[in-house]
Amino acid sequence: MTTPGLYFPKGFRWGTSTSSYQVEGAVDVDGRGESIWDRFCRVPGAIDGGDTGDVSVDQYRRRADDTALMAELGTNAHRFSLAWPRILPDGDRRVEKRGLDHYDRFIDGLLERGIEPLVTLYHWDLPQALQERGGWRNRDTAQRFADYAAVCFDAFGDRVRDWVTINEPWIVGLLGHQLGLHAPGEKDLKGSVEVMHHLLLAHGLAVRELRATGRDDARAGIAYSLFPHTPDDPASPADRAASEASDGYVNRWFLDPVHGRGYPADMRAHWEQAVGELDFIRAGDLDTIATGSDFIGVNYYTRRIVSARAGDGPWPWKVEEGRPDVERTDLGWEIVPDDLESLLVRLHRDYPGVPLMVTENGAIYDDGRDAEGRVRDSRRIAFLRAHLAAVHRAMGAGAPVEGYYHWSLLDNFEWAMGYWPRFGLVHVDRETQRRTVKDSGRWYADVARSGVLPVSVSESDGGVGR
Ligand code: FCB
Repeated sequence: MTTPGLYFPKGFRWGTSTSSYQVEGAVDVDGRGESIWDRFCRVPGAIDGGDTGDVSVDQYRRRADDTALMAELGTNAHRFSLAWPRILPDGDRRVEKRGLDHYDRFIDGLLERGIEPLVTLYHWDLPQALQERGGWRNRDTAQRFADYAAVCFDAFGDRVRDWVTINEPWIVGLLGHQLGLHAPGEKDLKGSVEVMHHLLLAHGLAVRELRATGRDDARAGIAYSLFPHTPDDPASPADRAASEASDGYVNRWFLDPVHGRGYPADMRAHWEQAVGELDFIRAGDLDTIATGSDFIGVNYYTRRIVSARAGDGPWPWKVEEGRPDVERTDLGWEIVPDDLESLLVRLHRDYPGVPLMVTENGAIYDDGRDAEGRVRDSRRIAFLRAHLAAVHRAMGAGAPVEGYYHWSLLDNFEWAMGYWPRFGLVHVDRETQRRTVKDSGRWYADVARSGVLPVSVSESDGGVGR
């Protein structure tokens, strides 16, 4: 008798996800230059508890241990980012060989264990030297990024096939440049939309560099922070319109131009009303932005419930509180696996033929080690199971999902929140750096090894995750 369960196709990528500044530490080792996050962490009050990424979970030194951990988790894929200031400490020109060597060894260690790397080029640690020249506000940074990308394609392109150019352009604009909650801590609405434009431009320029390498099987995409939208009152035409408008702000503003449709007219009108003419968009930019995107990276955590009440900054919509009857993670984010399913199906409908990868999905649960040293994070298992079932349903509906990268491999530096939020499949002791695979990690290992998401007989009628 076959095990009741949801079978994933052979070759499905079972992965974990991290980023350089969140895990590496060793910020002054091997010639690494300063990044905007090193600087931002020094601003009093910027980070909960005054934490920094100086040591973080020390992965730069422990890369061999962490690769072994991934093997223990049975995964066959891993998403991580390269620290631009390790490779080009001044942002451009001088290449630091020791930085390249580190990633060389890390990539080789993964491949030796049958773990396919998915490499992010920009996960927020911009070299401070480029910030001094205006950072992402400066159009030239997009070109600097393309040059950096070319160095990476040259160094690792013989072993790395898939590249994420930019991580979450909306979040970079919103938290880094509009609300000042992330590095570089700017608060400028027009500046934020300019930054987002330059990030998309950087993507397009980097894809041109990738195509120029002549490696036909190399692929690049963006990892977007995608939030499915729900009208506060689905029966209200005003709330439905507000929800659609906010979807333009968060999702379509990025997906549409990258996929050749230009900036969505409705949102462009909202932006122009809020900040005036978008005069930084130059002739030819939209062609550059649409150079190519070989997959869509989906970072999914929760949904947005939106009403037509004014209130969310300058916008004619408001993000409402979640529903009291919906379960939440320890950060208060609503857990809505069904919306991951509908998001993937929608992407397949709106951008047909483009492969999809869930490049991030995960939850904060603050479970520690018990007296026996075990981390019994059963809520993370339930979260994972429900979201994987949602991915499976989306695939059943035709969405071409190639893989799932859980955020995160291990507890790490969660930006402005410091170290308290624990997202890992692996627990990290803050004092000793000791790694302990959580119950969720063991559970994920079984699923990844077998390719089957177990369901009990009563659940196999489709009730899973609902
Ligand atoms: C995403 C980021 C990632 C991590 C998760 C929780 O927005 O890409 O670095 O912080 O959220």
